[in-house]
Amino acid sequence: HTIFLKDYTPSPYRIVSVDMDFRIGIDNTRVRAQLTVEPREGTAPGTPLVLDGDELSLGSIAIDGLPLALSAYAADANGLTVVEPPLRRFVLETEVTIQPEGNTKLMGLYRSSGTWCTQCEPEGFRRITYYLDRPDNLAVFKVRMTAPRDVAPVLLANGNLIDKGDAGDGMHYAVWEDPFPKPAYLFALVAGDLGSITDSFTTASGRKVDLAIYCSHGKEDQCLWAMDSLKRSMAWDERRFGREYDLDVFNIVAVSDFNFGAMENKGLNIFNDRLVFAQPETATDANYDGIERVIAHEYFHNWTGNRITCRDWFQLCLKEGLTVYRDQEFTSDERSRAVKRISDVVTLRSAQFPEDGGPLAHPPRPDQYREINNFYTTTVYEKGAEIVRMLATLLGEAGFRKGMDLYFERHDGEATTIEAFLQVFADANGIELEQFKTWYLQAGTPRLTVAEHYDADKQTYTLKLKQETLPTPGQPTKAPLVLPIKFGLIGPNGSPMGWSGVSGAEVRDDMIVLRDGSAEVVFTGIPSRPVPSLLRGFSAPVIMETGASQEDQLFLARHDSDPFNRWQALQDVGMALAVDAVQGKPWSDAAVAALSQAMGDTLGSDTLDDAFKALALTLPDEQLIGRTIGKDIDPGAIHDVRKQLLRAVFGPLSRQMLATYNALASTAPYAPDPASTGRRALRNRMLSLLVGSDAPGTSLLVAQQYDAATNMTDRLAALSTAAMAGTPEAPTMLADFRTRFGGDPLVLDKWLTVTAAAPRDGVIEDMKTILADPAFPRTNPNRLRSLVGTFAMSNPTQFARADGAGFRFVADFVTEVDKVNPQVAARVLTGFRIWPMLESTRREAAKAALTGLSAGGTLSRNTADILTRMLAG
Ligand code: ARG
Ligand code: ZN
Repeated sequence: HTIFLKDYTPSPYRIVSVDMDFRIGIDNTRVRAQLTVEPREGTAPGTPLVLDGDELSLGSIAIDGLPLALSAYAADANGLTVVEPPLRRFVLETEVTIQPEGNTKLMGLYRSSGTWCTQCEPEGFRRITYYLDRPDNLAVFKVRMTAPRDVAPVLLANGNLIDKGDAGDGMHYAVWEDPFPKPAYLFALVAGDLGSITDSFTTASGRKVDLAIYCSHGKEDQCLWAMDSLKRSMAWDERRFGREYDLDVFNIVAVSDFNFGAMENKGLNIFNDRLVFAQPETATDANYDGIERVIAHEYFHNWTGNRITCRDWFQLCLKEGLTVYRDQEFTSDERSRAVKRISDVVTLRSAQFPEDGGPLAHPPRPDQYREINNFYTTTVYEKGAEIVRMLATLLGEAGFRKGMDLYFERHDGEATTIEAFLQVFADANGIELEQFKTWYLQAGTPRLTVAEHYDADKQTYTLKLKQETLPTPGQPTKAPLVLPIKFGLIGPNGSPMGWSGVSGAEVRDDMIVLRDGSAEVVFTGIPSRPVPSLLRGFSAPVIMETGASQEDQLFLARHDSDPFNRWQALQDVGMALAVDAVQGKPWSDAAVAALSQAMGDTLGSDTLDDAFKALALTLPDEQLIGRTIGKDIDPGAIHDVRKQLLRAVFGPLSRQMLATYNALASTAPYAPDPASTGRRALRNRMLSLLVGSDAPGTSLLVAQQYDAATNMTDRLAALSTAAMAGTPEAPTMLADFRTRFGGDPLVLDKWLTVTAAAPRDGVIEDMKTILADPAFPRTNPNRLRSLVGTFAMSNPTQFARADGAGFRFVADFVTEVDKVNPQVAARVLTGFRIWPMLESTRREAAKAALTGLSAGGTLSRNTADILTRMLAG
């Protein structure tokens, strides 16, 4: 059934403190919980206490020490009801047994490679004990755990360790206490045989915090980058937001079986090990970057998420959007702001825009859901971060910081809402944000259209702006949004052009704030036609259409002071050529030559850095081209056009690219700093462009780089380039990679990813063979996603084959995995979201696969929810 935001009510009872006792055994785990419960003011006598529970088996139940009669409670598949609890503070004591060993859903308490660990967000705690499993119930927790010492010498939970010792019979125990009231989704426990590295951090006010990262034995050396990232995150949050850590210990545990990236449990973050382990031989620059980012993200949750949490799950983006914004700012400060912004926008366009424009579109703050796990989406996370970024853009750095300070001051210790979040910015800055709030409530990516007019007689320059958001499922009509449009006018010599007056909208020096559906902004005192640079820094998450000429775009690529728009201009030129060609309008040689020259100049620039050049020297990816066309997509045709265009644009640059490739070689030992990362990115970009432009001898160059590589970044870049292009050496390289690294699961994932992404016939058969291997770990989310997730999301030509084989393969996989781990199944199924935009043969084939899935028996709520929306949209 569906849960609605409008139905939110506080629970009639509150749990204020929790005392738990875990007896962890090989066969099962016994959980005793003593919950101190209070009726909320106004609760009527006789109001039942309804607790959540899932797959628990109840052993005993008592109130204030007295066992309850059978008629006084009822336990069923969804929980436990105490029929008539006392109307005063009381202690409810339950004892349940759970089976972590058989828990393949990886929610609640489960085992990963022998280690007991938990994942409770959003509704996993109810799989551990009966509870008010909702984020607005904050309680202090004390946790005692007893476990066999030999299999679980390490015993961890939230907060501080207050006692430990021997428990006889080969058992030992530990007691942890967390003084900060928290919702149950932040509960965590770990018991296992783990190695660790330790360090410490002293906060600005002098608290010495013991830091530790736990991992399987032998992996300790691979945790150093994560530790380094953690310490830098702690220092940054003090500098930038005045936020200090608040406990004496901060522990991180890396586990191999985890449904998503990581989890911010108070004082005990639990991580997917792919976001902890790094060493140059097995991890890429992208891995180092991801580790730094997610370590920071989870750490930042301590204030935005834990100290201030969500009232209900509709408010998820309160903590996620804000925390993504914070981790983006961290990376921007630690590395290159421009490069970070461009990469984030690339991700937004390739993941969030398609969600927002497809059958699964939903507002950043949804108002209904059937399965909350399906709302941990790129809309909630990444669009949520864009909304916070717009707030910062509109208020300025100081105004934004004033709001954040007030947020921490006013709401510390609370479970709150988006409304309360917006209110602090309004109050701190003496403004109102009513219309701005629409960003949280409305789904769909706004389209911003801009037309210009220069009047030489009047010396005026006019920008006609229009915004429109297309209907999304359940939201047929849309209201105009507040769009902060950062901009500049550029004069013929390439320098900024000022104006003597402006009217028609709210305009500041560098920003137009569009609030209406349309506006005409008139600048006066303009001596000659300027070239406008609009939406600098991608100041609002919109799809902008300006109809700018190629000449203007290339002018911006050369002269814009905003690096984002320099990058964007080159992409726009490439996009226009690609779209025309797909639609049957072949490009002119002159147009291609002009782009080629601009690319060459960018590459040759001595002011731009390598990382920026690596991002600029490319064409929009196939899926983005497809979505720009917007309907009747034929991925095969797009693939072919893009390949030809790549050759036409970059072929003439092959000598320059080869020279750059050679010049960027380095014998320095691997380091993940921004300059070295940028150098490798540009060099590997050259390699793939050389292959893409069919420069003679380059497939051998790729194979040579593969063999000679001393780090995984260079080796994987070569492997992936070979596999994507289907070079003659690719099969040998893939086979070598597998034998060379097959024993390291995280490197196996890279092999699976490269295999699944290759746009070649036969890939489906290969994947079937891989999955049929009895040694393939069928229950590990990383393995499954690397293979089938990659295929569905990143191999458009094979997934969307006209014969439907790709769709059927994924549908069959979803059916099977759904029985084991519904979250993995539901996530992979979202790969179908492009189906309504495909040309009719493929569209029908996708629909048939989806319909077959819905006919095929009982699906989990997770998968059924995605499927229903997918077919309705
Ligand atoms: N709160 C965690 C994070 O941002 C992720 C939890 C994901 N949970 C889920 N059901 N998908 O980093
Ligand atoms: Zn998060």
